[in-house]
Amino acid sequence: MNELEALVRSAQTSFADAATPADLENAKALFLGKSGRITELMKGLAALPVEEKKTRGAVINTAKQAIEAALNARRQALADEELDRQLKAEALDVSLPGRRRGEGGLHPVSLTLERIEGIFGSMGFVVADGPEIETDWFNFTALNTPEDHPARSMHDTFYVEGGSEASPLLLRTHTSPMQIRHAVQHVKRYRALIDAGQAMPEIRVIAPGRTYRVDSDATHSPMFHQCEGLWVGENVSFKDLKVVFTDFCRAFFESDDLVLRFRPSFFPFTEPSAEIDIQFQSGPNAGHWLEVSGAGQVHPNVIRNMGLDPERFIGFAFGMGPDRLTMLRYGVNDLRLFFDGDIRFLRQFQ
Ligand code: PHE
Repeated sequence: MNELEALVRSAQTSFADAATPADLENAKALFLGKSGRITELMKGLAALPVEEKKTRGAVINTAKQAIEAALNARRQALADEELDRQLKAEALDVSLPGRRRGEGGLHPVSLTLERIEGIFGSMGFVVADGPEIETDWFNFTALNTPEDHPARSMHDTFYVEGGSEASPLLLRTHTSPMQIRHAVQHVKRYRALIDAGQAMPEIRVIAPGRTYRVDSDATHSPMFHQCEGLWVGENVSFKDLKVVFTDFCRAFFESDDLVLRFRPSFFPFTEPSAEIDIQFQSGPNAGHWLEVSGAGQVHPNVIRNMGLDPERFIGFAFGMGPDRLTMLRYGVNDLRLFFDGDIRFLRQFQ
C-alpha cells in the first residue's frame, strides 16, 4: 500500500469512527482542512519539477476525491441514522384503531323539553325564553299577586341582591312571568292592528325553563323546571285548552287512551283555575290520577297588564312540570337523580 492509499484508508477509518456530525467535521479538518494532510501534500507540489508536479498532482487529487467521497458517504449515513432515530421516536402506527371521542347525550329533562317544544310547535306554539333572575313585578305583581297577597307565601322565594325597594330581584318561582313578557312584546308589535279593531294574530307560546323555590326533598328540588303555555285570542275557550292539552299528553306519553281531569284550584293569575291530572289506562301507573299542570283562564287584571282589553280578549294558560313528566315517562322515582350529575344514571338515556 503506498502512502496515499494509506492516507485514504486512514481517512475512511476516522470518518467511520465519527459518531456525530460534529466529530465528522473535526475528522474532515485533519485531512481536507487548511492544514490537513491533503492540503499539506498539495503545498509540497510547488517545489517539484513540472512533469512530476503533473503526475504527483493527479495522484493526490485522486486520493482527495476518494477522501471527499468517503466524507460525503459518512455524512449521508449519519443523516440517515438521525432520521431513522427520529422516525422511531415519533413512530405512528397508522393501523391502530383511532381514539374515539366520548359521545355526549342529552339530559333526560332536556329530552323532555325537546319533546314538549316539538309537540306544541306542531300545534302552532312558538317557544319563548326569558330571564331566571326576575323582577318582583313580572314574577308576582303583574300576575295579579300584589305585595300583601296571601298567595305570595305559597312560593318560597329566593331573593337576589341588586334590586330596588320598589322592585326587588328574585329567582323566578315559576315560568308565568313569561306570560307577561311575551304578551307585552306581541301586543306592542300588533298595537296598530288592535287599536284599529282588526284581528290580532293569536298569542300561542310556550316558555320552558328553570325555576327556583326554597324547597328540597325526593320530589322537590330548589332548582326545577317548568313550562308555561299561553294562548290568547278573541275566540279561545276552555275547550280549546282541554283539547290541546289532551293531545299534548297523549302525544308526549304515546298513549291514545290517556284521560285528563280538570280539578278546581286556585292561582291569582287565573280565574277559574284548575289542576290538570292525567290517568294512564295501562302500564305501571294505570288507574292513578297524576297531577301534571296548573291551568286556568287568564285573569282580567293579567290581560290588562298585557296591554289588552279583557272585554275583547280571552286567554288560557298552563304551567306544567317537565321534571315530573320525565319521571313519569321513564319511571324515575327520585327527582334528585336528575340533578346529581351521576353519569351512570344519565348514560341510560342516551
Ligand atoms: N305558575 C303556576 C305554578 O307555578 C302554574 C300555572 C301556570 C297555573 C299558568 C295556572 C296558569 O304553580
